[in-house]
Order: sequence, then C-alpha cells, then structure tokens
Amino acid sequence: MKLAVIGTGYVGLVSGTCFAALGHEVTCIDRDASKIATLKQGGIPIYEDSLQQLVQENAAASRLHFTTDLAAGLEGAEAIFIAVGTPVSALGHGGADLSYVYAVARDIAPHLKDDAVIVVKSTVPVGTGKRLREIISELRPGLRFEMVSNPEFLREGCAVKDFMEPDRIITGTETARGKAVMEALYAPLTRQNVPLLITDIPTAELTKYAANAFLATKIAFINEMADVCEQTNADVAMLAHGMGLDHRIGQDFLAPGPGFGGSCFPKDTLALKKIAQEHKSPVRIVEAVIAANDARKIHMVTKVRDAFGGSVTGKKIAVLGLAFKANTSDVRESAALALLPALVEQGAHVQVYDPAAMEEAKHALSTLEVQWCQSLAEVLQGADGAVIVTEWPEFRQLDLAAAKTQMVQPVLVDLRNCITPDAAKAAGFTYHSIGRASSA
Ligand code: UGA
Repeated sequence: MKLAVIGTGYVGLVSGTCFAALGHEVTCIDRDASKIATLKQGGIPIYEDSLQQLVQENAAASRLHFTTDLAAGLEGAEAIFIAVGTPVSALGHGGADLSYVYAVARDIAPHLKDDAVIVVKSTVPVGTGKRLREIISELRPGLRFEMVSNPEFLREGCAVKDFMEPDRIITGTETARGKAVMEALYAPLTRQNVPLLITDIPTAELTKYAANAFLATKIAFINEMADVCEQTNADVAMLAHGMGLDHRIGQDFLAPGPGFGGSCFPKDTLALKKIAQEHKSPVRIVEAVIAANDARKIHMVTKVRDAFGGSVTGKKIAVLGLAFKANTSDVRESAALALLPALVEQGAHVQVYDPAAMEEAKHALSTLEVQWCQSLAEVLQGADGAVIVTEWPEFRQLDLAAAKTQMVQPVLVDLRNCITPDAAKAAGFTYHSIGRASSA
C-alpha cells in the first residue's frame, strides 16, 4: 500500500520506517527542512537502536521517502497517518496540546481526495477523532473520507521491536472500509498471529491512555512497596518476583526506581486525569499515581542526602545517568532533572555523565552549574560518592574495585538497583539502594 506519514518525530519516523520494512511504500512528511535533509542523507534525528539501518535499507529500496512538500507527499496515499506531538498544554490544565494535530487536519484538507483514510497515531484525548472529522468536513463539505484511530505502543529504546513484534494492534474505525484498509495495512503482522483488535474510535483513543496509566500505576505501586520494604527489612526485588509469578500480575513494570519519567507516562496520566474530570468521572487511582510520582522525586533527594549523613553541602557527588531510562538520549521528565538542581541548591558539587544524553541534558539544564564529564572514569574521579540514576549497561557492569580507587569516599546510592548489595559490600562500599537494606 502507499502511505503518507505526517511528522518525523519519534512515533512518525519509527512507524513510517517499519511500515516500509513490512513492504509498504511510505512517504514521511515534515515541515522541518533540517530533519528531512538529515533523513535524506541517511541520518536520523533521534537516538533509537537499529532505526538508522532500517531507514537506510528501506530508503535504498525506494520504499521510504522523505519530503517537506505536503501536497506531493499525500499524492496517491491510501492511508494518511497523523503522527505529530501532543505535549502537555502550556495553559497549565494538564491536558494535551492538540494544536499540532488540528493544524495537520487543516493543512491536509485541501489536498484530500474522495475515500481518503486518515489515521491518527498521535496520542489524543477521547473525542479528538470526532473533532478532526468536523474540522475536515467544514473545510471540505461533501468530501467522502474515513477517520481511524491507531494508537502506538512503542517504548523508546526498543521501538522497532515493539512495532514489528507487538502484543496487539488497536484500531478504532467505524466503517467496513476503514476496517478493510487497516487489515490490509497490518496483514504482514496479523499473518504472524499478532492480534488486531478493531474497536470504535473513542475506545481506541482511550485504550492508549488506559494502558499507559495502568503501567504507570504498576511502577508507582512497586515504588511505594520499595519504601515499605526499606522500613521493614524486606527485599523489594524478591517481593516483586514473588508478586509477578502470579500470571494475573506479571513480572513486567515492577522494577522500582526513582519514579517514572519520559515523554509519555507523566504527560498521559495528567491528560487522562483531565479527560476524566471533564467527563465528571474522576480517576482517583491515576490522580494518586501522579501525586506519588511527584512525591518520589523529592523523596529521592532526601534519600541521597541521608546517604551523605544528612547533608550534601560541600560534597563532590558523581551522578551516573541523565536519560529518563537506559537506551535513549531523552531526558524529558527524567529523575536526574529533578535531582540535580536540588543537590546543587543544597551546596553539592555535582559532576555528571551519561553515555547518550549529555547534549540533551546540557540543553535542559543550561543554567545549572555542574561539571559535564566525558566518561565513567572521569565522573567518578575524586568523588565523595556516586548516585546511579539511569540503568545503563555500563553502570550495571561498574568495576567496583576500580571505582573505589577513583573515588575519595566509597559511597554508592543506586536508584536503579543495578548493583548487587553483596558485590558492593565486598568491594568496601557503603551502599544504598531501593527497597533493600543499606550496607555499611
Ligand atoms: C511508554 C510505554 O511503555 C509505551 O508502551 C508507550 O507507547 C509509550 O510510553 C508512549 O506512550 O509513547 P516509554 O515512555 O518509552 O514508553 O518508556 P517505558 O519503558 O515505558 O518507561 C517509562 C518510565 O518508567 C521510565 O522512566 C522508566 O525508567 C520507568 N520504569 C519502567 C520503571 O521505573 N520501572 C519499570 O519497571 C518500568
């Protein structure tokens, strides 16, 4: 099939490239000329494992094209995907900013032909598909077209795998034609027994928020259990394993840490709260999850301070990891972004290192006085203690004996439980982790 994907951000680029890899002919459209130029030269504007090679392979096979020309990109497209951002609104109400999505609807309207199929991949509040239909109908009275909702479930860092081997595909469409187009589009995956669930549009739109909010709830829950474990000398890793062996609960998303971050869970839980409030059907559990995650960021500052005997003033602290999780350069809503300013404000001398997120962190923390280090060895050098904030493999494999010789004080605060307590103790570290007894 011939497809157009509007927006070459995370979702649009991964989806467009993977559709091409499934055999479709895809044109990715973006108004950002520098992004399109990068993509045409075989580069990618985001950090994502295995994506660049896939872009290059499919572009070379003439299945994947990039353009800034909307009219040309839409020509002959059997399905048009909207994959632009829906960030938290700057108006402060917690809801999603739909201005980019609405702008795309207005931009494409003049170019649409009868029987156009418009698929919303962006995460949008329930009712957005209906509103988009109205916008296009107002601009093009009499045009025959289909609106479809097709939310994405791609994790940064393993987005290609999540696209190619999904647990399920959710599609909201209310016509036989919409259903037929989506079935043909995903046939390469459904042939491999991937379930394709067809729902109405509001259900598909809401399923995305429900899924993200539920996963965020699991994380907030295990984080609170970790705190209880610390107070009761229990071990949260074993507790999570014991809980997760129950198939009704499952092992995934029960890793405790410094609180969830990224561009999705914080934004989508807030947006769901707003949607529910607007419909006078409050989601109290999700509201508690948001509050618990906010509180956790403050709690992490206290935890680090306690590990340094109640004060970080004058301490040289090495922070390992700035990204919101491993395998991404994304620092949006990352735990480090909350922790670093607090440590600096309390008088710590902070030196930081991340294998991939240095540039994005420098941008986000441009006014903060920290020392930006180029390597793990450099960040640990002369430190009074180290804090692991992101679970990069490099930190999991930390050479504790070498680290101890580089540091002034062997204090390690592990907010991701990357290190085994016995190994830390054997290496002579005072070790603090999440949901497990500390060792001195
Ligand atoms: C999330 C969802 O997992 C995807 O299914 C969804 O498509 C995506 O949002 C989206 O809406 O676009 P992502 O934000 O890339 O994906 O990252 P996750 O791997 O879900 O992690 C989110 C946060 O939760 C991270 O800060 C991570 O460190 C934290 N987390 C995750 C934990 O603290 N513990 C866990 O067990 C799992």
